[in-house]
Amino acid sequence: MDHLHMTHEQACKLAPIEEPARQEFFMERCRELLNAHMAQYGMERCSFHIETFGCQMNSRDSEKLTGILEQIGFTQVDTEDADFVLYNTCTVRENANLRVYGRLGQLGARKKKHPEMMIALCGCMMQEPEVVEKLKKSYRFVDLIFGTHNIFQLAELLSVCFGQKKMVVEVWEGTDKIVENLPVERKYPFKSGVNIMFGCNNFCSYCIVPYVRGRERSRNPEAIIDEIRRLAADGVVEVMLLGQNVNSYGKTLEHPISFAELLRRVEQVEGIRRIRFMTSHPKDLSDELIEVMRESKKICPHLHLPLQSGSSRILKVMNRRYTKEQYLELAGKIKAAVPGIALTTDIIVGFPGETEEDFLETMDVVEKVGFDSAFTFIYSKRTGTPAAAMEDQVPEAVVKDRFDRLLKLVQDTGAKVSGREEHTVQEVLVEEINDHDSRLVTGRLGNNTVVHFPGDASLIGKIVKVSLDEFKGFYYMGTAVTEER
Ligand code: 5AD
Ligand code: SF4
Repeated sequence: MDHLHMTHEQACKLAPIEEPARQEFFMERCRELLNAHMAQYGMERCSFHIETFGCQMNSRDSEKLTGILEQIGFTQVDTEDADFVLYNTCTVRENANLRVYGRLGQLGARKKKHPEMMIALCGCMMQEPEVVEKLKKSYRFVDLIFGTHNIFQLAELLSVCFGQKKMVVEVWEGTDKIVENLPVERKYPFKSGVNIMFGCNNFCSYCIVPYVRGRERSRNPEAIIDEIRRLAADGVVEVMLLGQNVNSYGKTLEHPISFAELLRRVEQVEGIRRIRFMTSHPKDLSDELIEVMRESKKICPHLHLPLQSGSSRILKVMNRRYTKEQYLELAGKIKAAVPGIALTTDIIVGFPGETEEDFLETMDVVEKVGFDSAFTFIYSKRTGTPAAAMEDQVPEAVVKDRFDRLLKLVQDTGAKVSGREEHTVQEVLVEEINDHDSRLVTGRLGNNTVVHFPGDASLIGKIVKVSLDEFKGFYYMGTAVTEER
């Protein structure tokens, strides 16, 4: 097939309707168009760089985008000094948006000097119509914009860009489609995220995610297990099951299954030694799940359980559908069932109407639960969410003061509880050479605590027994006991 002499419209008529065959067709087309593009500009290679903002969902999406671009024939590079730059954006807090605009401004200046370079934007921010309007008006140099629902279409969209200089915008409002079996290029050879569901139905009143990621859709368990088997065959030992609310996994499938049941099946996959998951909603965390965690040899003793607020009154307005007491009871139940488990959380400070008393309830929960660590966020008003329209937004200075007090408590609590394995021998999955000292390697315990110990690159991806000699506040210094299990 000669793609060079075919318009995009002609190619669309020829392309298969079914996925992933359609995208395979467009990847092939892009490969030819890319070669022609390189010949035209006398380029030896065409480099790309993806900058990922936000959560693990976005990181995993970026691995999929990378897979597609490499299949087409682009070469990945570490910096934005690339021929094709793609920002995978986040919009959960306003700061995330501001960062994207700032970076984009700089990128625009670079494009002035290198007009042949291409710039694309995707991810959660693009699902907001106001953002796309602003980009169309003030950032005309952007070549391609797409959303969270059609990242699988990258090749198809790029094939339009190759043929014209106009901005291409394709953002879907929603989808019930899950496209399987497209190429993926993992960042780490030994661990991988695995999407088990997309979207969120909870509509917490402050959160924009349900609007930009759409309604909950679960992948079929067979597709998930197949993917994990393939990952294991490819050397992956740790998987992180990803969803906005993994505890409601499987409820809308034709043959519903529970998240706990899915975990039992993942546990059976040979070669996988560690299973993690993210994120759990307290309201949906079942006794069945606690039981599976208790029995499992592979599920890591770590649970990320977003609290958001310790005040039952605020939790109600947040539409979280649990109370302070229910959260405390749940945390207690989990700790009793899985001794030594690390609990981590997300907390928002300064939600509209939050009083000093409400805030002290949050502090109280942090003290009572003893989180290993917590992500603390200043409430950020997201247009379109119910909370954005609420009165009594808390004054900035008050929020800042509360945030500082909370951060201190969170750090002090973490320093007290996370050292519980000091002077014991534990298994560490080695992830990388230490950033600051190349004689050390850095890895993680099952409960996610970081460990540094003397070692070399040959240990990366291995699970090593390490004596945890000294706890340093939020990480351990150790020494290897044997090289490999
Ligand atoms: N403002 C501040 N933090 C927020 N989060 C979600 N929406 C907002 C918001 N509008 C936080 C929650 C969530 C985490 C991913 O981001 O704590 O768990
Ligand atoms: Fe946002 Fe709540 Fe859904 Fe989490 S559960 S993504 S906080 S709406």
